[in-house]
Amino acid sequence: MQQGAFKSMGVALGLVMLAQSLHASDASDVSDWSVAEDILAIEGDREYGAYLSSECTTCHQTETSTEIPAIAYWPREDFVTALHAYKDKVRPNPVMQMIAGRLSAEEIAALAAYFENPE
Ligand code: HEC
Repeated sequence: MQQGAFKSMGVALGLVMLAQSLHASDASDVSDWSVAEDILAIEGDREYGAYLSSECTTCHQTETSTEIPAIAYWPREDFVTALHAYKDKVRPNPVMQMIAGRLSAEEIAALAAYFENPE
């Protein structure tokens, strides 16, 4: 791993922990939550997803670290579902909630199309 990437990951992790200590996340119930069909049906623009992905890969590497899971090669539906769960705040993690909160459904679809097969 590159030195610079490692450093920025350290900073990012600090932010994650700070955010977590500031916002005690609600114990949310995911069981009665699901992504709407029309959101899952959006065709993602893979090139746009590749462009957007640079923000993600400052934290997410190709291999899972202790704190940050790998997100490449996920089935599209799982990826879209995970991001909308953060966006709707049914999945607790202040950093990912903030990141997903800024993304539109089209952008999430584009990222899913890219991360499904990033090569
Ligand atoms: C500041 C660091 C950071 C950035 C930037 C970031 N993430 Fe994350 N991401 C995390 C952490 C930490 C988790 C684990 C959160 C948890 O435990 O729920 C996570 C979790 C995820 C998950 C769920 C992984 C799993 O195994 O359940 C997905 C999907 C995801 N991120 C996608 C993205 C995408 C797409 C972007 C770019 C738009 C992005 N992330 C940007 C830190 C980051």
